[in-house]
Amino acid sequence: MSLLEVKNVSFSYEKNKTTIKGVSFSVEKGEFVAIIGHNGSGKSTLAKLLNGLLKPSGGEIIVGGYSSKDKSALFEIRKRVGMVFQNPDNQLIASIVEDDIAFGPENLGIPREEIGERIDFALRSVGMEKFRKASPERLSGGQKQRIAIAGVLALKPHILVLDESTAMLDPQGRKEIAEVVDDLRKQGVAVIAITHYMDEAVKADKILVLDRGEIAISGTPKEVFSQKERLGELGLELPLAGIIAEKLCARGVNVGGVVSETELTEALWKLL
Ligand SMILES: Nc1ncnc2c1ncn2[C@@H]1O[C@H](COP(=O)(O)OP(=O)(O)OP(=O)(O)O)[C@@H](O)[C@H]1O
Ligand SMILES: [Mg+2]
Repeated sequence: MSLLEVKNVSFSYEKNKTTIKGVSFSVEKGEFVAIIGHNGSGKSTLAKLLNGLLKPSGGEIIVGGYSSKDKSALFEIRKRVGMVFQNPDNQLIASIVEDDIAFGPENLGIPREEIGERIDFALRSVGMEKFRKASPERLSGGQKQRIAIAGVLALKPHILVLDESTAMLDPQGRKEIAEVVDDLRKQGVAVIAITHYMDEAVKADKILVLDRGEIAISGTPKEVFSQKERLGELGLELPLAGIIAEKLCARGVNVGGVVSETELTEALWKLL
């Protein structure tokens, strides 16, 4: 059984206007799925459907055997699917890091001693153990976002949904989050990242491209980014390595249709 199954899901905010149309995909343990698409294509709406903040108007979402159709399953679904949003300042509430992280588990009714363990685990997972007693206000954007992620990890989710969680960060902050994502996957947590950065998407196992609420393209980064013309029509570009590879090919340096840094380095290495 997949961790998450999205079956022919549709959603409307208003009558006569469908925002999400017949979307289907599944997510496995430890898998990294990137969702890309132009502004207003429905990415955030889909994210909110995944953890039960919104309810599908059609179709079904199944998380660990619990269906979103079943009202009493919402609690179980939210426990399993954690969400982190764009602005870390809107997600941190307490004046001390550990209190912030304790907030979620306290609400779930987790016993005191276990909350302490969960804070340790969550801070360790994001490499912020030293900041347990710090004030969130004094942290950098990347550090704040890591604390926001820790707050969700303290709930021990099976799936972490990041809705443009790196959009407000500098390159260093983005790198920090990418490292956290890598570690989580090794622990078996699945990560679904909504991003406008193609260089983040290219690292995923699978990419979903949304267009007007539908999946326009899906597949491995290689499969998706080899459809350059179609992506152009959807207002999307290639990752940097793909753009460089194209320019090299145009100058007769045949590196092939590579899309990631690793592939480009490998192709150049072979040629040299
Ligand atoms: N609460 C709402 N009520 C009505 N319509 C909404 C609401 N939230 C979003 N929409 C509409 O639904 C569509 C999809 O919006 P959504 O925020 O899911 O897109 P997105 O892909 O996340 O965009 P962005 O890249 O700008 O974050 C848009 O047309 C948007 O205007
Ligand atoms: Mg959005």
